[in-house]
Amino acid sequence: MQKIAIIGAGLMGHGIAQIFAINGHGVTLVDLDENILATAAAGIRENLELMADHEVVDSSEIDAAVARVSTTVDAEKGVDGAGFVIEAVVENLEVKQKIFSNLDRLCPPSTILASNTSVISITEIAANSEGKQRIVGTHFWNPPHLIPLVEVVPGDETAPGTVDAMYDLLKGVGKHPVKVKKDVPGFVANRLQHALWREAISIVERGIADAATVDECVRYGFGLRLPALGPMENSDMVGTDLTLAIHDYILKHIESSPDPSPLLREKVEKGEFGFKSGQGFQSWSKAEAAERRMKLQQYLLKVVKDL
Ligand code: NAI
Repeated sequence: MQKIAIIGAGLMGHGIAQIFAINGHGVTLVDLDENILATAAAGIRENLELMADHEVVDSSEIDAAVARVSTTVDAEKGVDGAGFVIEAVVENLEVKQKIFSNLDRLCPPSTILASNTSVISITEIAANSEGKQRIVGTHFWNPPHLIPLVEVVPGDETAPGTVDAMYDLLKGVGKHPVKVKKDVPGFVANRLQHALWREAISIVERGIADAATVDECVRYGFGLRLPALGPMENSDMVGTDLTLAIHDYILKHIESSPDPSPLLREKVEKGEFGFKSGQGFQSWSKAEAAERRMKLQQYLLKVVKDL
């Protein structure tokens, strides 16, 4: 068992810590904010209890898992003796570059350093560090303790051994890691996801359908198929010839703007942030937002058992 240090104990950091702790690893959570660290420990117990209710984890293992997680505001102390460090702080290149050059100085060359960035190039994150060969991307998905996928992304100078060691660690704790071949912004899955979101927002902006209808088209339509049949398999199933005929006709009509939608910008400028402000593309009461979050967890808890 390795000691794992997680830098940033927010939404993603505490969920990532939980994955390693329930699988027997010692974990240290590092954050600048004592309050976040206190909430993180409570959040881990709450998640594990919900998972035990669904028989995804054994309830007798919860106390031991929580006890394996320690917390500190002192990064140097937190990474001491760690075989792997995973950074999950704010999505800001400059902040991440500073953290990695600091980690590079604090950790011996054998320690693997990973970033949970959603979209930023790993090569850019490693730019100010000496030990670029041991820096790698590990893109977990929210909620990280329930979504199996982790994209393992090499920067231009990452050693193949670093990618393999991270892949093996993740496989060992029951995740579904995939190796991405090239370090491009957004990696694989966020490029796919945001191609869909760009079109979804554009459809609303152009008055083709309202936001709820867009979601219905996904939820009751092709979204149902996705876990059983990915887009590349589907293209083969219907035939590459039909795929070509459809693309020949439709692609010129699909949103291709390189900039965020003006409607999206307008929402943000008006403070319409979605669940957290009660208004986004749709209106959300506190109860509706909580119900949607719980529905997602319940759904994921059901499907992960059968994967
Ligand atoms: P968050 O805002 O919930 O947590 C970030 C935490 O980092 C905060 O607790 C903050 O106090 C701490 N922090 C900031 N600077 C720090 C420093 N120098 N040292 C130690 N702690 C520091 O953010 P969230 O959502 O957990 O995102 C973290 C990372 O994970 C980002 O890079 C994000 O893009 C990525 N990510 C987020 C996903 C999501 O759905 N929220 C999904 C996948 C990746």
